[in-house]
Amino acid sequence: MSLSPATKRLLQDTGARLPVVCGPMYPGSNPELVAAVSEAGGFGVVQPIALTRLYGHDYRSGLRYIKTLTSKPFGVNITILPKTAASARYAKMNEEFADIAIEEGVKFLLTSLGKPDDIVKKAHANGVKVYHDVHNAKLAVRAADAGVDGLNLLNSSMGGQTGQFEPEEIIKSVLAVRDEADFPMLCAGGQSTSSDLNKMLELGYAGIQCGTRFLATEEAKITQEYKQAIVNAKSDDIVWTNKMAGTNSSVIRTPMVEEGGLRTNAFVSFLLKQPMTKALTRLWLLRGALEKYDQAAFDPEVQYWQAGKGVDGIDEIISCEEVIRRFEKDFKLK
Ligand SMILES: Cc1cc2nc3c(=O)[nH]c(=O)nc-3n(C[C@H](O)[C@H](O)[C@H](O)COP(=O)(O)O)c2cc1C
Repeated sequence: MSLSPATKRLLQDTGARLPVVCGPMYPGSNPELVAAVSEAGGFGVVQPIALTRLYGHDYRSGLRYIKTLTSKPFGVNITILPKTAASARYAKMNEEFADIAIEEGVKFLLTSLGKPDDIVKKAHANGVKVYHDVHNAKLAVRAADAGVDGLNLLNSSMGGQTGQFEPEEIIKSVLAVRDEADFPMLCAGGQSTSSDLNKMLELGYAGIQCGTRFLATEEAKITQEYKQAIVNAKSDDIVWTNKMAGTNSSVIRTPMVEEGGLRTNAFVSFLLKQPMTKALTRLWLLRGALEKYDQAAFDPEVQYWQAGKGVDGIDEIISCEEVIRRFEKDFKLK
């Protein structure tokens, strides 16, 4: 397979050898994992809250620690939040995450939520690339108009908070309104094998962003039980719940998940629909979810295990180097 102009740009933007990104994960993005993916030839992306709150690093020192583990480039995920009373503090924190990443020489930001206009200006002034997460064509056009360098198309097969559309559907709808041969789009969700990678490249994606595949690795700092549950799970075992963050997240169906139910109760659902209470309710749910995810990362008894439908292609816990080697097996650089 020859490289498309979009894949070439993705590889230039990231500095990776292979168009395979390890997406930011809470939990799962421990610095050793991020570094191991980049070191192996893929591209690791830091989840700043995981780096600090979960894995206990000061943010700047954590970035420096990753630089001691690999000389290869890695990225940082920045969440763009509105500066409303409910989220002003977190919005500022994320701006600082971006500033420090740039100061530390990070050349790639993956942005989530919000409008990326301001961060694109700042990043480009510093020679930094920005790719933005989107889950539909409208948001894709808005981000592209803001000048982002690429898009991360979130689909309905992904682990963590899900998109609504299949990988085939979302790229088709984006290409219908924005078709530039060298504009990179990543496929986030459900990808775990080299045939998945090749199929997505044929669809017009520049590369893939994986999460679940990299959780079942030696370098991921989550419990062995969580990793083994990913290996054992089939895509039918992946269910959506809105109980974690108010929007749908994909998790493995475990007795604990079933017991808690998959949907918020009528009162919380009502609050989530009201413009006045929506943001605060989400924030409140997210706080609870973070606590559950913290426990799920380190306590085998807490089985709130986020994972995507790519579990079908994961049958072993292996090193990141081996994951990348397997992705690379049928992928020939030309
Ligand atoms: C355990 C877990 C936690 C995640 N946490 C985040 C997160 O904090 N921020 C984010 O932007 N994406 C998050 N994601 C999404 C990943 O970055 C990635 O896009 C997704 O996992 C790709 O789908 P896959 O799991 O099917 O490979 C998470 C995914 C998983 C599996």
